[in-house]
Amino acid sequence: MTEDILKILLTKEQLEARVKELGRELTERFAGGEPLFIGVLKGSFIFMADLIRNVKLKCAMDFMAVSSYGRETSTSGAVKINKDLNEDISGRHVIIVEDILDSGVTLNYLCGYLRNRKPASITLVALLDKPARRRAAIRADFIGFEVPDEFVVGYGLDYAERYRNLPFVGILKPEVYAN
Ligand code: IMP
Ligand code: MG
Repeated sequence: MTEDILKILLTKEQLEARVKELGRELTERFAGGEPLFIGVLKGSFIFMADLIRNVKLKCAMDFMAVSSYGRETSTSGAVKINKDLNEDISGRHVIIVEDILDSGVTLNYLCGYLRNRKPASITLVALLDKPARRRAAIRADFIGFEVPDEFVVGYGLDYAERYRNLPFVGILKPEVYAN
């Protein structure tokens, strides 16, 4: 599996240190409150698991599953909700946890969708930000790392459902998705 990786962008140690910091920042920002963390499946599952263990607050968690169609490495623009929330979010402070903010289409859609349910606030946390490819007018409130315009995998992020279990974030060799 690692033979498909061109270059490691973020090591396990770098990820661990930054996620710890993000946990601390969120703990401060929401001190005294009880936010609801919403993980966007599947890409955020490892980040979410590590992040919430660094948040020293009483908080609830829920998950949504969304997909932008297809197996290709860039989003088609159409977003589909595959699993909706179980929790009622009206009047609550929600924190959306996403793996990567790329074109921004997914999060832009999701935010609008959730805003209709009248939460007290929506905060966006993205592990990775790829600003070069932004198409929707959206920015994250908390970002782990900015990454270059390359297709990255690992630490939850996939290519065709593979590589999520890599403990680092790396750039995939172009020949892997060329065939
Ligand atoms: P969007 O383009 O911001 O809507 O991103 C939609 C989704 O595409 C993200 O949540 C990821 O699951 C996936 N994605 C975007 N860029 C990458 C990448 O470099 N590697 C793996 N998945 C990606
Ligand atoms: Mg994906």
